[in-house]
Formats: sequence, C-alpha cells, structure tokens
Amino acid sequence: MLFYLETLGCQMNVLDSELATAQLMEAGHEPTTDRDAADIFLFNTCSIRQHAEDKVYSALGRLKPWKAAQPGRFIGILGCMAQKDKELIFRRAPHVDLVLGPGQLERLSTIIAEIYGQRGTRRLEVSLVRGEHRHEQVKESFRKFDPLRRPQVRKNRFQAMVRVMLGCDKFCAYCVVPSVRGPEQCRPHREIEEEVRILADQGAMEITFIGQTVNSYRYKNGETTIRLSDLLEKANAVNGVERIRFVTNYPNGMTDDLLQAVRDLPKVAPYFHVPAQSGANTVLQRMKRNYTAGDYQNLLDRIRTTVPDAAITSDFIVGFCGETEEEFQQTKELVRTGRFKNSFIFKYSERPGTQAAELYPDDVPEETKRLRNSELLEIQDAISLELNREFLGKTVRVLFDEQGENGQILGRTDCDRIVACEETPHLFGRFSNVFIDDALPFTLLGRVM
Ligand code: SAH
Ligand code: SF4
Ligand code: F3S
Repeated sequence: MLFYLETLGCQMNVLDSELATAQLMEAGHEPTTDRDAADIFLFNTCSIRQHAEDKVYSALGRLKPWKAAQPGRFIGILGCMAQKDKELIFRRAPHVDLVLGPGQLERLSTIIAEIYGQRGTRRLEVSLVRGEHRHEQVKESFRKFDPLRRPQVRKNRFQAMVRVMLGCDKFCAYCVVPSVRGPEQCRPHREIEEEVRILADQGAMEITFIGQTVNSYRYKNGETTIRLSDLLEKANAVNGVERIRFVTNYPNGMTDDLLQAVRDLPKVAPYFHVPAQSGANTVLQRMKRNYTAGDYQNLLDRIRTTVPDAAITSDFIVGFCGETEEEFQQTKELVRTGRFKNSFIFKYSERPGTQAAELYPDDVPEETKRLRNSELLEIQDAISLELNREFLGKTVRVLFDEQGENGQILGRTDCDRIVACEETPHLFGRFSNVFIDDALPFTLLGRVM
C-alpha cells in the first residue's frame, strides 16, 4: 500500500519518522509524497505547545473527505499527541483508525496489518502513564526502537541522527515531554557505536547524537560509566565520519569532560545548544530548572574559555506563569549578554497535566506574550547579525545539504551557521570551503573556493 507520512515536532520525531518509513517499507508498503495517491495517512505529532496540537486536529477535520473519497483509506496518529490524548483523538476525530504512541513504534506495521481493511477495528496502542504504575513497568512500556538503518529513507545519505537516549526525567514545570516520551533510558554504548559504524559504512559523514537531555547520557558498563564525552570519542575514531554534533543539552551537567571533548576531538563541531529558558531566578525557580541565571552565565563563560570559537544557541520561553515586566527585563539582559548565535523563542503554552498547569495560572495576556516574543527576537536578531558579520572575508568549511530558493544551495558550517551559495549541485554531500562575502542574521552568503 502507499503511505503518506507527515511529521511535526523535534528531531526525535524526525528520526522516528525515518525509522517508521523503513519499517513500513520492509513490510511491503511504499512511501508517497502525494496524499491523494495514498491509502494510508500517518501523522507523527507533537504536543509541546497547544499550537502544534491544533494543527493536527484541524488537519484531521480536513481529512474526513479524504478518507470518505475512497474505500479502504486509513488514518494513523503517531507520536507525542497520541500518547498524550489517547482515546480523546477518536472522540474528536472518529475517522481515525489508529492511535499509536512513540513507545510503540516497533509494532506499527504489525498493527496496521492486523486492523487494515477490517471495519470497526480501531486500535489504541500507547505506553503506561507515569505515576500510575511501577516505574520499571512504565519504562518497559516505552519500548526502545532503533533498528538497522536504511539510508535510502533519509533526506540524504551523508547525514544521520543517532538516538543516544529516550525520554526525560527533568520534569521542568511547563513541559509535557517527560510524560509523553516516558522515563529517561540510555541506550547501551556498544549499540550506539555499532550504529555509528554502520551509518559511516553507508556513507554518513555527519552524525548527530540526539536526546532530550543528551548530556545526561550515562551507561554503566561493569565498573565504568560511559558518558557522552566517551561516545563522542568513539564516534570521532570512526573512519568516514567527518563531523559530529549533539543536541539538546541541559545546562546542569555540562561537565568539563564534555567541554574538553569538544575542544580536543577534531570531528566534534564547536556548537552547543543549551536552552536557558529565562534570565530571571524567580522564573527559573517556578519552572523548576534547578539553576540560576548566574549559574547559566558561568556556564557560558566556561564554554567560551574551553572552546573559544564555540557557537552557543539557546531557547527561551516568554510569558511563563506570573512573569513580571522586571523578570522579563532580566531575560532580555541574558539575551544581550549571552551573545547566542541564535535563540528559539516561544510563547508559554499551558500543557494539561504539567506542574505549571496545576500550580500556577497562565496569567500573562496573549498580547504581552506576543510583544515580549518580538522584543526578544529583535535583540537576538541584532546580535545574530553582528556575530555573522564577523565572518565577512573569512573562509569557512560547509557541508551542503539543501536546495534553497532562487537557485541557491544551502549548507552549514562547523559552528552550525547556514551558508547559501549560487547553485553548484555536485557539491551536495561534500565539505567545501566557502569565502563569505555577505551576512544576514540567519544566513551567510558566499562563494565556493
Ligand atoms: N529537552 C530540550 C527541549 C525540549 S522542547 C530542553 O530541555 O532544552 C524545546 C523547547 O520548547 C524548550 O526548550 C522550551 O523552550 C520550549 N517549550 C517546552 N515546553 C513549552 C511550553 N509549554 N510552552 C512553550 N514553550 C515550551
Ligand atoms: Fe522538557 Fe525540561 Fe525535559 Fe527539556 S529537560 S524535555 S524542557 S522536561
Ligand atoms: Fe514535540 Fe514530542 Fe519532540 S512533544 S518537541 S515531538 S518529544
């Protein structure tokens, strides 16, 4: 059968979609980019903010006529919203056939085979709810799924993500991830190393280790504990691998061994994504982030002392419960002094079931959130431009991986800056030296040398 798969959300979902596609192909199905040709419509969903969920529900409304247009059409909801909303999805969209959480992905093709074409056999396949069962049972119910990789289903052969851990145990007050992705579980280091080797043999030059708090990676191997820095060292030694990244870091736990690994291992990119969320201690406390703005500032200093050319990026939430003008000023100050390459800025969105939803009213007006969002962006954009302008007249190493608009090709530098050049298609999948002759806040423009 032909299936169409749409993906929302973070890199976890992007990787899950890649793995699901490979699994479905193994079961004899074929992917299509034309939803009107498809028999099966799959949505890999995200719950991080209300907006992401609204998108899915309104798309589901539009899929009603799609489904009715041909007998045998099938709709499946995968991902975090499946785990969060469960049977509510069937109530809001009775034409959905399958709701399958991220901890059940390995059974996707089997379950589709079981229920496809059988009237009235909807299925709900999700993991256990945290807090309602023993921790070990909950963990088991979020099954690991990292099968052998099929390079042909990736966007390209030369870049690949590798999951080093599942879930999250941090329970930041605003965040839905610990409940929808389950308890933190680190994959055995040998499995990760093996996967990197296989990917390299398949032509992957750029490896990105992913995890919600990737720097919390710990795996006990007898007496020794393997950390993220050890994984980086192993990956650095793999022939064929040319560049290694890791996202996302939790500010606590940026240990010296990790900073030194980035400094000392030539293939590890000098790039750190370390979300701050706020610059006000009082807000950080309400968010349950377990660090102060001062701790965060010290971390920035430590990163820059150890890895002077490092690019640092951050995430911020504006309009979190009770955020005053003064608290917001402190966040502005952190964005000014932090000098991030870029920041992702989000308006707080209350998530049912989280601590923040239970403890505090979502009392910052939407309009204030919007204003704070654009104020912060304006400060950040000016800094991004300033930092990008430092590259004028310099030559940087770029891996081209994307077709841009107006006949340009796009790629990224080691420090994760986007570079656009006039079209030269044979450069895809190769590292090229590019001379930078213009700079915008988000893009460097240059000529291939
Ligand atoms: N694990 C990562 C990122 C998780 S989600 C981390 O801890 O940094 C990505 C970003 O979404 C977060 O960094 C945060 O800035 C934002 N986010 C999470 N929950 C949110 C919510 N309820 N409302 C608005 N933004 C949110
Ligand atoms: Fe969410 Fe916090 Fe975990 Fe990140 S660290 S996924 S923000 S709970
Ligand atoms: Fe969204 Fe789930 Fe990622 S909620 S941000 S897709 S872990």
